Parts: sequence; structure tokens; C-alpha cells
Amino acid sequence: MRASRAMLSAGVIAPAYADGMTALAHFTAHNGFTLPALGLGTYALDGDAGADAVAGAIGAGYRLIDSAFNYENEGSVGRGVRASGVETSELIVTTKLPGRHHRREKARTSIEESRSRLGVDAIDLHLIHWPNPHQDEYLQAWEALVEAQQRGTVRQIGVSNFLPEHLERIERETGVRPVVNQIEVHPYFPQDEQLAYHREHGILTEAWSPLGRAKELLQERIIGEVAAAHGISPAQTVLAWHVARETVAIPKASSLAHQQSNLEAGAVSLTADEVAAITTLGRADGRLFDADPATHEES
Ligand SMILES: NC(=O)c1ccc[n+]([C@@H]2O[C@H](COP(=O)([O-])OP(=O)(O)OC[C@H]3O[C@@H](n4cnc5c(N)ncnc54)[C@H](OP(=O)(O)O)[C@@H]3O)[C@@H](O)[C@H]2O)c1
Repeated sequence: MRASRAMLSAGVIAPAYADGMTALAHFTAHNGFTLPALGLGTYALDGDAGADAVAGAIGAGYRLIDSAFNYENEGSVGRGVRASGVETSELIVTTKLPGRHHRREKARTSIEESRSRLGVDAIDLHLIHWPNPHQDEYLQAWEALVEAQQRGTVRQIGVSNFLPEHLERIERETGVRPVVNQIEVHPYFPQDEQLAYHREHGILTEAWSPLGRAKELLQERIIGEVAAAHGISPAQTVLAWHVARETVAIPKASSLAHQQSNLEAGAVSLTADEVAAITTLGRADGRLFDADPATHEES
């Protein structure tokens, strides 16, 4: 397998994955915490089918699983993890605290609930799902996560959909910087400035909806041209673009075929020109739906 550009620039190379076929770049946060370049999104992967999909993905080599209290699937994710037979110490299972649980006491209970539903002693990575700036209680939620980390019931703490002003405030008030900010990133919404901010502060970027939900993005001419040049699919091309930009993509895929081909994209190396050409698809109104963190309030 060729070493990808991201592997070289990230400087840290992961051991071979479970299937022995795919090695992924790992990216490192300010405190030394590392994440693989690709993980599994689980929005709408729930019930028995969700547990089977998670177990299958781990069997295929995924080591990072994303979930959230609001996806109502922490139970299925936990079952899938246990059914996979892979040691939990090898996995990074993520969940997120919902907006209605930001107040300190509520946040404490929410963290305990997520831990029970996942069926783990400690949550590997717990994020605040949205800042909900109008509600203005995200600092309390962050303090609850800091306390949980100090107690050892959460291993790593981060945020999602936080703007630099939100990131700066929680660090200023608590002295603790998030390891991850999970935000909307795909070629229609590349978020160059926010990525540069994260890089400067050692905060890992996780890209949500990395495939643009596999709609018109995958039909774009430039994506098709780059895909053809490498003999790969449009979805793999978009994921290779994320890896080259050192963002952790968490595509959701219910079928094993999609899960496997998405993971294989981690071994594809795009040229700088190809990355730049795909990035030109970006546009100011490129968000998939009306979810501006400055105004969006998640329940
Ligand atoms: N923090 C947040 O606020 C936030 C917001 C949105 C999402 N997320 C997280 O990010 C994850 C990913 O985002 P998303 O689910 O919105 O969108 P996405 O991952 O961009 O797209 C998912 C869609 O792509 C399809 N797909 C996957 N692999 C494919 C392939 N190789 N070829 C063709 N189609 C493929 C899936 O279909 P199949 O299932 O049929 O494979 C599904 O319809 C979520 O699941 C969730 O964990 C977080």
C-alpha cells in the first residue's frame, strides 16, 4: 500500500487495522490524544440493524464510532461494540450531550445516562453537541464534562459545532481546551478558516456529513474526474480529500460494502492540485441545511 500524503504530514502512522488491508493516518491533538482519519457515523443506525451495522463496521476495521444521546442509539452502539468481539480499549466510542441537558446538574445525569446506555465504565470521547448560544448554558455543560473527566467516567472531552468564540470562552473559564470540534465539513462547505484555527490550537477537526449526505456532491464533474484518475468511487474521492486536509471524516454507512470502501479511501493519496480543485466547490451557502452554530439551538 502507498503511504498517503496525510500519513506523512501527520507524522504518526497507525498500526495495520483488523482486516490487515487498511492502515489509516492518525491525527494528534494538543494533549497527545489521537484519532484515526476515518470513523463511522451512526445517525439513523439504531435498533438491531444499527447494532449489526456497528459490529460489522468494527469487524471491517473501524476503530472510531460516533453517536449521540439525540440519535437515540447509544444502546445499539454499545451492543454492536460488544458483539464485535474487539477489545473496548482498542476503540474510541463517542457520544454527545444534547442541548436540553446543558445545565450543570442535568449534564451530570446525562453523562451517567449515556455511560449506562453505552454499557461502558468510561466514555472514550464525550462532546457537547451544539453550543446553543441563545440558551447560553454551554459553559455549565463543559464544566460537567471537565468534572467527569477528572472522576474518570469520561476519558477525553470535546465539542461539536463550536465557533472560535465559544472555544475561547470555555478554555478561558476552565483552563481546559477541547481535543475535538466536530463540525460540518464537505467540499460544498470546506471551512478553511475554522480548520486553520483548530490546527493552530491543536484541536482535531471531525467532519460531519463528510459525503454531503451522498447527494448531488457525488455527481460533481470534478469529483468524477479525480475519481476516474485514481480508479476509485466518488465517495472515496471525497473521503480522500478529507484525509488530505487532515480532518477526521465520519461517514455514515449502513451497508458493509459502503463501510469497507469508505475505509479503503484512507489509503488513497490525492495531489495538492486535486485537493485544491475539489475545494473550489465550496460556497458561502454550502451548508446542507440551516444549521449555523451562531443561531441554531439543538433541543
Ligand atoms: N455533530 C453534529 O451536529 C452532526 C450533524 C450531522 C451528522 N453528524 C454525524 O456525522 C455522521 C455522518 O453524517 P451524515 O450521516 O449526515 O452524512 P454522510 O456521512 O455525509 O452521508 C451518509 C449517506 O451517505 C451514504 N453513503 C455512505 N457511504 C457511501 C458510499 N461509499 N457510496 C455512496 N453512498 C454512501 C449513506 O448511505 P448508506 O447508509 O445506505 O450506506 C448515507 O445515505 C452522522 O451519521 C453523525 O454520526 C453529526
